[in-house]
Amino acid sequence: MKIGIVGIGAIGGIIARRLKCEGHDISVANSRGPRGAELFASAHGVRGTDVGGAIEGADAVVVSIPFPAVQNLPKQIFARLPAHVPVIDTGNYYPALRDPQIPEIDAGKVESVWVSEQLDRSVIKIFNTIIAPSLEEGARPKGAADRIALSVFGDDPRQKKVALGLVEQMGFDPLDCGRLEESWRVQPGSPCYCCDYGLHELRKAVASAVRGKAAERRDYWIAHLHELHGANPDRNHIVQLQRKLNAVE
Ligand SMILES: NC(=O)c1ccc[n+]([C@@H]2O[C@H](COP(=O)([O-])OP(=O)(O)OC[C@H]3O[C@@H](n4cnc5c(N)ncnc54)[C@H](OP(=O)(O)O)[C@@H]3O)[C@@H](O)[C@H]2O)c1
Repeated sequence: MKIGIVGIGAIGGIIARRLKCEGHDISVANSRGPRGAELFASAHGVRGTDVGGAIEGADAVVVSIPFPAVQNLPKQIFARLPAHVPVIDTGNYYPALRDPQIPEIDAGKVESVWVSEQLDRSVIKIFNTIIAPSLEEGARPKGAADRIALSVFGDDPRQKKVALGLVEQMGFDPLDCGRLEESWRVQPGSPCYCCDYGLHELRKAVASAVRGKAAERRDYWIAHLHELHGANPDRNHIVQLQRKLNAVE
């Protein structure tokens, strides 16, 4: 498949490398045009281009940029992309930590619904619940006891089918969790967030989410970040902490 990756930082960079290893034809872009993406592209044997070039002719697109930056992508950039092509959103909203306040989301709008409105394109939400080190190290063959499951939300069945297949190829169990509107269940601070759960636990955690509660937990985590994490937290520390903080009482 021809896959365009917009954003090649912690998450987009890993996705680009893994999908390249699976034999896909990968084009990557960042905010700095074809030359800006060239260093990553030449290091990993993929094509460096600009955002339009990454999207043109793609069978799937991944948008993995800082949450508010979706507002800066060229308007109507997805207009020529056929309707069945998934645009995968990995984003999370972190007000007071990284992102400016977005009043609509603070008032309860679902994060990926807001993203789809900015992009004027329905998106598939995946990869927002896994930290970069787990995405890097956590891939396992199908059937492995410690395979991590990833939630998948979206409205178009054809787009979702492609996206579920990509998650599977990357070494994770995809779990179709329903429509995009339901993806509040996996936003930062939710019961499954960054917990590296397998299928059974993920299904339970997604079902147990209580609307409105995740933002409180996210804000608690942001307020106590340094004392909770210490100077140099490793993957295990972060996952155990998230399991404890986000557990449903
Ligand atoms: N890091 C994690 O563990 C993690 C886990 C799950 C989900 N997420 C979410 O996934 C998203 C990406 O996170 P990240 O940690 O991968 O970010 P990151 O490391 O900061 O990388 C961001 C990438 O986006 C590019 N970018 C920024 N603005 C852009 C624009 N207008 N057009 C094109 N490219 C642009 C950057 O390019 P330049 O270098 O040119 O600026 C960079 O390649 C965020 O919403 C984050 O919350 C992150």
